Amino acid sequence: MSEAIREFLDRASPPTPCLVMDLDTVRANYLAMRGALPEASVLYAVKANPALEIVRLLAGLGSGFDVASPGEIDLCLAEGVEAVRLSYGNTIKKAADIAYAYRLGVRRFSFDSADDLENLGRLAPGSVVACRFLVDAPASGTPFGAKFGCATAEAIALLSRASSLGLRPAVCFHVGSQQRDPSAWLSGARQAVEIVKALADKGIDVESINIGGGFPVGYVTAAPSLEECVAAVRGVHPRLFVEPGRALVATAGTIRAEVVSIAQRADRWVYLDIGRYNGLAETENEYIAYRLTCSRPSTPDGPVIIAGPTCDGDDVLYQRTPYRLPLALRAGDRVDIQHAGAYTASYSSVSFNGIAPLATYFVGGSAEVGSFAGRHVLAELHGVEAAVLDDDGFLREALERSLKQAGATVCDVVSKSFDPQGVTVLALLAESHASVHTYPERGSVFVDVFTCGQRADPVQAVRLLGEALGATVSRVQTVHRGQS
Ligand SMILES: Cc1ncc(COP(=O)(O)O)c(C=O)c1O
Repeated sequence: MSEAIREFLDRASPPTPCLVMDLDTVRANYLAMRGALPEASVLYAVKANPALEIVRLLAGLGSGFDVASPGEIDLCLAEGVEAVRLSYGNTIKKAADIAYAYRLGVRRFSFDSADDLENLGRLAPGSVVACRFLVDAPASGTPFGAKFGCATAEAIALLSRASSLGLRPAVCFHVGSQQRDPSAWLSGARQAVEIVKALADKGIDVESINIGGGFPVGYVTAAPSLEECVAAVRGVHPRLFVEPGRALVATAGTIRAEVVSIAQRADRWVYLDIGRYNGLAETENEYIAYRLTCSRPSTPDGPVIIAGPTCDGDDVLYQRTPYRLPLALRAGDRVDIQHAGAYTASYSSVSFNGIAPLATYFVGGSAEVGSFAGRHVLAELHGVEAAVLDDDGFLREALERSLKQAGATVCDVVSKSFDPQGVTVLALLAESHASVHTYPERGSVFVDVFTCGQRADPVQAVRLLGEALGATVSRVQTVHRGQS
């Protein structure tokens, strides 16, 4: 955990569970990736953590982006990233998704099947199309199995067809996420070179090789360095891409959770307020074993089974991986989950068991974003009970809680009730202001949240307020103000 995260958690004591991301660590990880393989262009795999703050920071540092869907394309474009900096890296896409991406200017796609290639030929003319082949490598921490990638021979045939369709052939592979064996990249590089040579023999040029992501993080034990992983890739092609997700964001995030209860049966069960469905999806099959630190002194300790808060039998984090936690651990104690910035918030369910998605707070990064910058979110809420919209105490409390959970610093909240009905609530924030104006007779509310800087997320504040009021949120507009 970085000092900035520790300082924020001590000072703000946000409701748990929550994820705190240090943008300075994201920047350092990006620069380390660039340093390890300077000849490669970086495409950040947005799925690892799609927070706007991260996309904006990396865009400012010159990164490109690996996007998996129209939603991720929209997210990057909304942050001002040019479409030519995007690569549609998901091999599973509808024809309509290809058409959408192409219409918006995306010209780089991955594929691994004849069907997808024919769609690309028809709907993305002239684009660079990278054929993903299956790497002959040991399984990774979170393996893809045989879901993606064709055999080397098929890749050669598909790329020959791509060339005849007027597309620009390229090659890509992914050794599996959290790959701890650097020889995997050596295998990938060898197979890629074999494909490039076979195509050269047919007079077909390969535009680039994308060596994917998969770079491992030292969750509990140290992981091989980036330099070891990419050693075999240097110089294999004049145009290289890397597509890291985990390696850029995992170490930048800490999840703060809380012990809900402890049951002593044949085993000692520790139930946390975070589990498989609200952020720790990668504990499936106990693939990722996070390092946990507790607010209690660590000794004496004893073995535990660790489980999440939902009524689902699968929501057990670790029962085979040996974990030990302090014997003095009690309900209400804090548990910090380290290196949790990747594949956590983005995997969190919308409301399984009525549990809200994992809230994210940001620290650091101010040097990149400048201080004269903010987001103004305007929205309408509908379908709220009239009594709620006339209850100024409840509205003040709901607005304050939503703003705090979204990272804002609330200095004051005032309200005014009107005759015969309706309330205006105004929150004074260190980041600027927020307001709510209600129409009980219609069940509707105008909401307006303006926050400067990067710490608070006004979109999240509006969403949380909508949840608190049981409302449908509509007509959300975001106006970026000041420096972009
Ligand atoms: C196509 C693609 N590229 C890159 C990544 C990022 O991988 P990692 O987070 O292991 O670096 C993924 C992860 O699933 C992926 O599917």
